[in-house]
Amino acid sequence: MRSVKQSFDLTDQVAIITGGAGKLGEKHAEAIAEFGGIPILLDIDNKSGTEKAHKISSEYQVKCEFKLCDITDESQILSVKDSLLSQYGHIDILINNAAIDPKVEKKSDQNLSRLEEFPVDQWNLELAVGLTGAMLCSKVFGLEMSKNGKGVILNISSDLGIIAPDQRLYKKSGLPNDKQPVKPVTYSVIKHGLIGLTKYLATYWVDEGVRVNSISLGGVSKNQDPKFVERLTNLIPLGRMAHEDEYKAAIIFLVSDASSYMTGSNLVIDGGRSCW
Ligand SMILES: NC(=O)c1ccc[n+]([C@@H]2O[C@H](COP(=O)([O-])OP(=O)(O)OC[C@H]3O[C@@H](n4cnc5c(N)ncnc54)[C@H](O)[C@@H]3O)[C@@H](O)[C@H]2O)c1
Repeated sequence: MRSVKQSFDLTDQVAIITGGAGKLGEKHAEAIAEFGGIPILLDIDNKSGTEKAHKISSEYQVKCEFKLCDITDESQILSVKDSLLSQYGHIDILINNAAIDPKVEKKSDQNLSRLEEFPVDQWNLELAVGLTGAMLCSKVFGLEMSKNGKGVILNISSDLGIIAPDQRLYKKSGLPNDKQPVKPVTYSVIKHGLIGLTKYLATYWVDEGVRVNSISLGGVSKNQDPKFVERLTNLIPLGRMAHEDEYKAAIIFLVSDASSYMTGSNLVIDGGRSCW
């Protein structure tokens, strides 16, 4: 019988993190490294990905690799899979984290974030990464896990995967209502969609030992406009945004045997925002 502490251990587990060169991808990778796993950062940002993999390797004294991979392209995902299988022989964890952060900004007198103006090319681009990319990575890497009889997929959703954006947060003074910037529709659709993908995959591979969960993260503090922060924190019972390191423990819980009786669920960590 493993102790509770041992159930969090990730020694030698190969953990793919899409969008691993980004802000939170790096944090997920650090947490995995701290628990003995081998983080594999997939990203289109070669420079940041290479630097972050190198930094994590030397700080945590574990293997950590960067693989240049556009997750909208299935052939690139397949070649990452082949290279990981020939190097390690197994893939244990997939964190679908990559996304394009949709812009809430105003250009001249037009505001492209608004539904009436939202360009279909932008819709296609964001869904291709946030939703199609997550499906393709799950298809390719999840299949390997299912053949191996074990594995974990974790989809990174958001508080906006369970509630609607409060568009009052993005209001700018001096603009009429129909010109106000908004959180684009894509973010809601992608983040709700990831929770749907979670439930689909959790039951699809349940007999093959692959567990699939998602996590709804609240906003992380990163020098946002103080007015925006004040409005947002008024909606959060804990009265603040998250620190970038505050999700690490939950990530380890969800990708390790510590969550062995959990699949098809969404863990909400949002400072209480969605209960108000
Ligand atoms: N930061 C927050 O406050 C917050 C809150 C809730 C949820 N989230 C979610 O957490 C995840 C990470 O957020 P972040 O703040 O680190 O974002 P980020 O923009 O720093 O990182 C996203 C990464 O995805 C990569 N990417 C984009 N297109 C790609 C593609 N085609 N193939 C491979 N990689 C690609 C980018 O290069 C980038 O490195 C996202 O899913 C985001 O929606 C973030």
